[in-house]
Amino acid sequence: MCGIVGYIGSKNASAVLVEGLSKLEYRGYDSAGIALLEKGVIHTERSVGKLVNLRNMLIDNKFTATTGIGHTRWATHGKPSFENAHPHRSEGLTVVHNGIIENYLELKSMLIEKGYKFESETDTEVVAHLIKSNFSGYLRKAVRKSIEQIIGSYALAVISEEEPDRIIIARKDSPLVIGIGEDEMFAASDIPAVLSHTRNFIFLEEGDIAILKKGSYEIFDIDGTPIEREIKQIDWNPVMAEKAGYDHFMQKEIYEQPRAIIDTIRGRYSLEESTVFFDGFEKVESSAKAFNRIVIVACGTSWHAGLIAKFYLEKIAKIPVEVDIASEFRYRDLVIDDKTLFLALTQSGETADTLSALRIAKKMGSTVMSICNVVGSSIARESDSVIYTHAGPEIGVASTKAFTTQVVSLLLFSIYLGQKRGVLGHDESFRYLQAIVELPEVIEKVLEQDKNILEIAKNYKDVSNFLYLGRNVNYPVALEGALKLKEISYIHAEGYPAGEMKHGPIALIDKNLPVFVLCPKSSVYEKVASNVEEVKARDGIVIAVVTEGDEGLKGKCDHIIEIPATIEELSVFPTVVVTQIFSYHCAHLLGLDVDQPRNLAKSVTVE
Ligand code: AGP
Repeated sequence: MCGIVGYIGSKNASAVLVEGLSKLEYRGYDSAGIALLEKGVIHTERSVGKLVNLRNMLIDNKFTATTGIGHTRWATHGKPSFENAHPHRSEGLTVVHNGIIENYLELKSMLIEKGYKFESETDTEVVAHLIKSNFSGYLRKAVRKSIEQIIGSYALAVISEEEPDRIIIARKDSPLVIGIGEDEMFAASDIPAVLSHTRNFIFLEEGDIAILKKGSYEIFDIDGTPIEREIKQIDWNPVMAEKAGYDHFMQKEIYEQPRAIIDTIRGRYSLEESTVFFDGFEKVESSAKAFNRIVIVACGTSWHAGLIAKFYLEKIAKIPVEVDIASEFRYRDLVIDDKTLFLALTQSGETADTLSALRIAKKMGSTVMSICNVVGSSIARESDSVIYTHAGPEIGVASTKAFTTQVVSLLLFSIYLGQKRGVLGHDESFRYLQAIVELPEVIEKVLEQDKNILEIAKNYKDVSNFLYLGRNVNYPVALEGALKLKEISYIHAEGYPAGEMKHGPIALIDKNLPVFVLCPKSSVYEKVASNVEEVKARDGIVIAVVTEGDEGLKGKCDHIIEIPATIEELSVFPTVVVTQIFSYHCAHLLGLDVDQPRNLAKSVTVE
């Protein structure tokens, strides 16, 4: 996600801001900038690429300003570029922003009608002009009025030449903290940015607006009433702070999944109308009925997401789907044409085999789209249409939040395509969308099982082999669970269709083999329950993931992990989060490098 730093005090603001932004580099970004209030005039410096480029621009730092705001951008609206880098300005004021403004296009056209000129494609520049349009002498009131017009998420910091003695900050759905110093105040999207200056923090709450001055602050709640917020003493060391107190980025990212899913679905559906919409989908929409099949191509965890998508698209959009591993797809004699919709799934947007596959499909006349987590990445740029997962940077090599946001995007896309092909009705659409809206809460409940799963992991961290079984939509989760375990704990693990047990793997079952069985309430529940019996009959060890309240397997398994009920198609989310937590604890208990496992890279840009 983007990084925000604000400073008002007696130190050189340029130095404080750049140092603070450097502490947020781990979050991933594609451009950076600062705005300084120098003798009542705002100066802005922005650069594309790494922070060192901004530092070089400031090298003969002639600025003596003691007030300013800074930003590292992780692109969501508009590609990485100088024009799109923050801070964004309107006359006499400047803004930095984290989050997603869903109604930015309608606000933008309203502001253009008022005569405002835009330099960027970003939603943030809209906020800058909106605040300007609402300014009538009080910056805080202009910000308050503006956020009342905004639909979406924001963490904002604003400075103005009209009120040079203050910084106005505000938050909704995007974190923002106040750092309280000696005769100086800080604002930050994340504690690490200013931890070297203070350990006293206030965590703004939803709808809060604050005024920061050199030696004081005021906070106002969503109704504009002055309020006090608790000051928290943070004793993290800087490394812990980067992980927000978690032991590893992977653990943090497992816990970020409810928020990542909220950010990914935000602005892409209407529950009351039971519709789904995507920007830039004209080509896909115009051919929706002409497509006679979809070919999904990906690698690793993204390929597992593709296998789940096959269930969704065939059931909901009534279209045949093939799912291929990119390194296999690209070397086959392919039968694809302009009636094929090619769909690339990729977190990084740079996986070499997936990119090559997309280029082949494009050359053969297919419409190519992608689901990707990195704006402006190669695969995104070469796609006719892109659905961006707004998971934020995924630092841990083992993919977690990227996977679940891919899958929820695929479900939204299935609903979208089903409606465009005229094969999905309102009630069915509503049923899926209702379950999607409840999904973050479902995952939160699974996260509460962390300690129970840790206790189970303690028994099995030293085993040599593991078998994961799942059926139907949970078979890809068995594959994903096995991949997670092997890639971070180096324990050999295989994912298998539960129905395939008798065709070979059952020979492996004995008292030394733990078997993870994904057995939520579903149309294939009885079948999977009988697979559990088969494993137990051969003294195998069973860790069963079941729907809470299900007594069917009680007493028949060595361990039971209960997950919340949800519709069958969405059971993959709670089941996969269980396997993520389990593999994380095994690796952590083994003292391994969870975030950077041996031999692995976060993005495989070579073939
Ligand atoms: C999964 O945990 C791995 N990091 C790996 O399998 C990854 O999913 C694969 O390399 C594909 O990467 P992409 O999604 O960036 O294309």
